[in-house]
Amino acid sequence: MSDWINVTSADAIAPGEWEVVELEDTSIVIYNIDGQFHAIENVCSHEDAPLAGLPPEGDQVVCPRHGARFCLRTGEALTPPAYEPVHVFPVRVVDGIVQVRDDRWD
Ligand code: FES
Repeated sequence: MSDWINVTSADAIAPGEWEVVELEDTSIVIYNIDGQFHAIENVCSHEDAPLAGLPPEGDQVVCPRHGARFCLRTGEALTPPAYEPVHVFPVRVVDGIVQVRDDRWD
């Protein structure tokens, strides 16, 4: 099983905000939704554009390029023009540090 990796301070991301972090060679967006952190790959499944850029809406994120909407909890594509999901990563906070685990190959 992959290890948890420190990616940022929890204090650095206020509720409703986000931060792009690099997990080895993968760009990930960390969102703070009312104190709950979510981590999703920073690549839209429509045309591989960065997903980060717009504020989250509830537990959803909207791609800034063509407006596809994804669930931050499951990565599911909720609206066209995206139909394929985006990977969401396990995330936790330990001693004020946000940690993410890359479980894609576990
Ligand atoms: S690149 Fe995200 S909706 Fe088109």
